[in-house]
Amino acid sequence: MSSVIKSVSIIGAGLMGAGIAQSIAAAPALIAKGVAVTLVDVGEDRLANGKKIISSSLARVAKKKFDGDKAQADAFVADTLARITFSTDAGLAAAHSDLVVEAIVENLDAKQKLFRDLDTRAPKTTIFASNTSSLPISEIAKSTLSRRDRFAGLHFFNPVPQMKLVEIVRTQELSDTAYASLKDLVVGMGKVGVECKDTPGFIVNRLLVPYMLEAIRMVERGEASKEDVDIAMKLGAGYPMGPFELADYVGLDTTKFITEGWFASGKGLQGKELVSPPASLGKLVEEGKFGRKNGEGFYKY
Ligand code: NAI
Repeated sequence: MSSVIKSVSIIGAGLMGAGIAQSIAAAPALIAKGVAVTLVDVGEDRLANGKKIISSSLARVAKKKFDGDKAQADAFVADTLARITFSTDAGLAAAHSDLVVEAIVENLDAKQKLFRDLDTRAPKTTIFASNTSSLPISEIAKSTLSRRDRFAGLHFFNPVPQMKLVEIVRTQELSDTAYASLKDLVVGMGKVGVECKDTPGFIVNRLLVPYMLEAIRMVERGEASKEDVDIAMKLGAGYPMGPFELADYVGLDTTKFITEGWFASGKGLQGKELVSPPASLGKLVEEGKFGRKNGEGFYKY
């Protein structure tokens, strides 16, 4: 049994939050059900940034969808944007929501503080979810008093409007009803939900991160060049990007941050050495080379 989610608040209007809000507002199945979406951030400038991310992404979708018909494309962008409420008041948004999805900075204290506040404002039935990539959901959930059975991970992938997968992370306490409601929403968004336990990296990053790190170590040991490792994985394993291209795409600072967090805590990991941070990754980050986003990582852009 699930209870229908009719209103969703997304907290954090950055890359991920904006993508999640857009994906809800543009989903035909959710529009038909009248699902309302509110996007929240700390200031008007951040909200404007979120709005910009959404308009550019929608404009790209509309160009393809309406085959260059500008009037139809503009109407699609305007209608979809109009279905999103923008707000700087997270408490007020949560008070009117069946689901709150958090997509703020990747910092445990900040996430706990947010949910501690929202726990006092949201109705008892509201489900809370975090889009964290690397923090344990059960640790974040500890900040709420009596919501552990309605607290889950809802892990989206970048770019959210294009990426079909959502990892639905189940802690031991999550109720079947809350899980079913989240699954329904994910399906309504036109995405595919997979169920996984609250372990480091869930499914995708648990496999991808050690793979990228081992590629970096291979090159450090002089076993192959990074260019050849990338070519090999694309042509030999059919991957769309090689591990160095992928690391640059994800961001070397993000990769290093995730790796160090898991390595230091060691919680829930078998084979901790799989995530030991390689020296050359640390060196690039120290030099300010974060990957695609700032023009240089393993490669120059
Ligand atoms: P971002 O830095 O683009 O956006 C974060 C936004 O949250 C900013 O606009 C910031 O002003 C806002 N914010 C910070 N504290 C807030 C608060 N207390 N209340 C309201 N808004 C607040 O970050 P991004 O990349 O969108 O990541 C967000 C979350 O999603 C992180 O937990 C990250 O680990 C996770 N994630 C990121 C992915 C990625 O590829 N970037 C992929 C999957 C998950």
